[in-house]
Amino acid sequence: MIHSLKNYFLLGMLALPFLFLACEGPTAPVEEATEKAPDIEAAIDSLMSQLTLEEKVHMIHASSAFTSGGVERLGIPELIMSDGPHGVRHEHGRDWVKDEGVRDSSTYLPVGTALAATWNRDLGYAFGSVLGSEANYRGKDIILGPGLNIIRSPLNGRNFEYLTEDPYLNAEMTVGYIKGVQDQGVAACAKHFVANNLEYEREQVNVEMGDRALYEIYLPGFKAAVQEGGVYTVMAAYNKFRGDYCAHSEYLLDGILKTEFGFDGAVISDWNAVKNTMEAVNAGIDLEMGSDLPMLAMGPPDYGKFHMGDTVVTLVNNGTVDVALVDKKVRRLLRTMYRINAFGEREPGAYNTPEHQRIARQIADEAIVLLKNDGMLPLEQSATKTLAVVGANATRKHAGAGGSSQVKAFYEVTPLDGLQNLLGEGTAVSYAEGYTVSREGGSDADLIAAAVAQVKDADAAIYVGGWIHGFTDEWNDNAYDAEATDKESMELPFGQDELIEALLAANPNTVIVLMGGGPIDMRKWQGKAKSIVQAWYPGMEGGNALADILFGNLNPSGKLPMTFPVKLEDSPAHKLAVTGFESLEQNYTDGIFVGYRYFDSYEVAPAFAFGHGLSYTSFGYDNLTITKEDGTVTVSVDVTNTGDVKGAEVVQVYVKDDEANLERPAKELKAFQKIKLEPGASQSLTFELDEDAFSYYDDKQNKWVLEPGTFTILVGSSSRDIRQEGQFTW
Ligand code: BGC
Repeated sequence: MIHSLKNYFLLGMLALPFLFLACEGPTAPVEEATEKAPDIEAAIDSLMSQLTLEEKVHMIHASSAFTSGGVERLGIPELIMSDGPHGVRHEHGRDWVKDEGVRDSSTYLPVGTALAATWNRDLGYAFGSVLGSEANYRGKDIILGPGLNIIRSPLNGRNFEYLTEDPYLNAEMTVGYIKGVQDQGVAACAKHFVANNLEYEREQVNVEMGDRALYEIYLPGFKAAVQEGGVYTVMAAYNKFRGDYCAHSEYLLDGILKTEFGFDGAVISDWNAVKNTMEAVNAGIDLEMGSDLPMLAMGPPDYGKFHMGDTVVTLVNNGTVDVALVDKKVRRLLRTMYRINAFGEREPGAYNTPEHQRIARQIADEAIVLLKNDGMLPLEQSATKTLAVVGANATRKHAGAGGSSQVKAFYEVTPLDGLQNLLGEGTAVSYAEGYTVSREGGSDADLIAAAVAQVKDADAAIYVGGWIHGFTDEWNDNAYDAEATDKESMELPFGQDELIEALLAANPNTVIVLMGGGPIDMRKWQGKAKSIVQAWYPGMEGGNALADILFGNLNPSGKLPMTFPVKLEDSPAHKLAVTGFESLEQNYTDGIFVGYRYFDSYEVAPAFAFGHGLSYTSFGYDNLTITKEDGTVTVSVDVTNTGDVKGAEVVQVYVKDDEANLERPAKELKAFQKIKLEPGASQSLTFELDEDAFSYYDDKQNKWVLEPGTFTILVGSSSRDIRQEGQFTW
């Protein structure tokens, strides 16, 4: 049923002479994807010569909630899209009405911040392959992910969908993700280009920033997506950038993305992000997507009335618009279709396989971050005859909420499920909610008393709280970690602080587990808690991963992909930016000082540093050597597992420019490697850094500059746990 529409169009295709191209696309190495294949270009020429103006215009706007327009006469299919970014979204039918009775559950992967917390590039690829494979199985052409916006403020409601505050980690994790998706024959879509770093009035807000911040912080993820990942599509963001809507911005789309980065795929608008015909037609937006939700209440929208719809036909016919502008867009859409073999038969994808579930599990295993541990963890299963579990997030399922990233999970193992699965009958597990999930509600004395009574005498106590996506699955009722809304503060909702304090007073050994897309203000109890674990939204297998980590069957190896500030006011987006967070004019006067670049340069102590994450073992770093030959700096270091259990370490290499004409951050991540070591084992690691690792973007000269002089290389276990350092001169 899901494939029926596509098959319908394919029938018309069978007679076409260029069917031989069917072998192009899914099996072609992604590295070659951005090189225009001559046979594809010839096939595009042939189609272009046959398309009428009306047909071309039909292709450059939506034809349903998640499809572009196809041309049946020429066998040109609709492009079928789905969110993204951490699972293939449920079916909507053509007009946002849930398709009941279709097989549309999917593997619910850990969210973006969790993926980034693995610091494991191979898992980026594995994540992408699961998505691509399931998208392919479900007849999708484009998966709307990865989400590459930089995590600039802890308040952004969509941080959980994104990866990190750091441009290098962003780029490294995204390349694998994209290749993983596209190797399955489906296009990825890097979104939201660019500077959609908050949700407040996202369709109106104007972002201003200097070129240095743009090039050093906000663009590298997208550049890597294009140049290293070979991404086939990019989504233009809702917001304005320097006064123009991103979807209308010739500067961003034609100048930077297409000309400078060499992107030759299709730019898709965010849903309803196109606001004006002439601006959109002139700019590099190739496909207008969206559906006017209020209009939907009155019936399916008339997609011909879209800005890039019938009006464009009129404007070309009366000479206002050059048809060449339309042709450019159509060519890019056709190129995307050839790359994903939309005209042919694809290798079939797979759906909810044990292998997909294993990958979801492995990502969760490596994503969970042990923030603090005063010897409390791991818990000992044999000594735990009674376990008290407290907190609404212990039983709450998260897959179905959060906005467009919602997933109808095939199943979701909650923390309580995971603990029960692991402990079996040998341990009596009790559960108390502790607080009520209610926007109005604060702490509840009765619920606190019931929870305290349980943790008091239990052999072990685990609290699972933190953020949630929303109160229900409904779009308009999302909150906290959710699309179209931002958090009001970094403080825990639902009176959780009071509850945690009461639990720690009753049983100081209570383990604190926090779920959510980012940091919370822990000042009230951080000092009293012996162990704190950051579990993100860890996907359908998250509960099992968490249980194994808490009871020591697994050694935690996740590292924070963002700084956890002590309090919101410490965050540079709030401290340095001159405009308030709730302003339609967002001037990013924090510039390049995003995340640890700020905390470390301005010497502001975070609650937990970027790159931080503890292990049940310890690692020693020795023998740093730095050599420079021609344009390459080679950094070597030996890392040893000096503890008693096997574990994984993320070895992080930061660069500091000792003296520069411009103010440079105290350190910048330029390389990392995750390694797994048995107790006592050592590994020598070698990193090669080219001149990009030492350059800054000079916004006076408008180019990257490498300023000769001395640089310090800092190698360590987090941005604030540097174990070896040395200098060299460029
Ligand atoms: C979101 C996009 C999403 C699109 C389609 C928009 O509201 O910003 O990320 O892909 O909807 O659901």
